[in-house]
Amino acid sequence: AATTEADISKMDPGMQLTVLWQGKPVAIVRRTPEMLATLDKVAGELADPNSSDSVQPAYAKNKYRSRKPEYLVMLSICTHLGCVPLYKPKPGEVTPDWQGGYFCPCHGSKYDLAGRVFKNVPAPRNMDIPPYALFDGDKKVLIG
Ligand code: FES
Repeated sequence: AATTEADISKMDPGMQLTVLWQGKPVAIVRRTPEMLATLDKVAGELADPNSSDSVQPAYAKNKYRSRKPEYLVMLSICTHLGCVPLYKPKPGEVTPDWQGGYFCPCHGSKYDLAGRVFKNVPAPRNMDIPPYALFDGDKKVLIG
């Protein structure tokens, strides 16, 4: 189908759910206030913190890269050569100063919890945000 519907009503805070949309993995993350607070902390270390050169709908061109800060909906595809980055939400999980984000196992690209890429890694840009909508009182996501 051109669109994918996902039930997010059972997601605990901090959890990631992955669904397929047009054959591609889409990560949905329910971000906690603590996770959202990391987005400002890491901004200075990012290649494109304002998502000027990344792919997202206009409504997701903001610091959170989402319609609502709590829910990230993102193509889980590394912009280097297309591996699926690992969800590493916990502080210190990847490096001692890690604030949480995504780590690509293929060549080590790092992204924050909004899919924004760090400087000095192989990936050229932030991960893409697909078109989507939240509906049914934020219990469901429609992707596409
Ligand atoms: Fe992710 Fe190369 S594919 S770093």
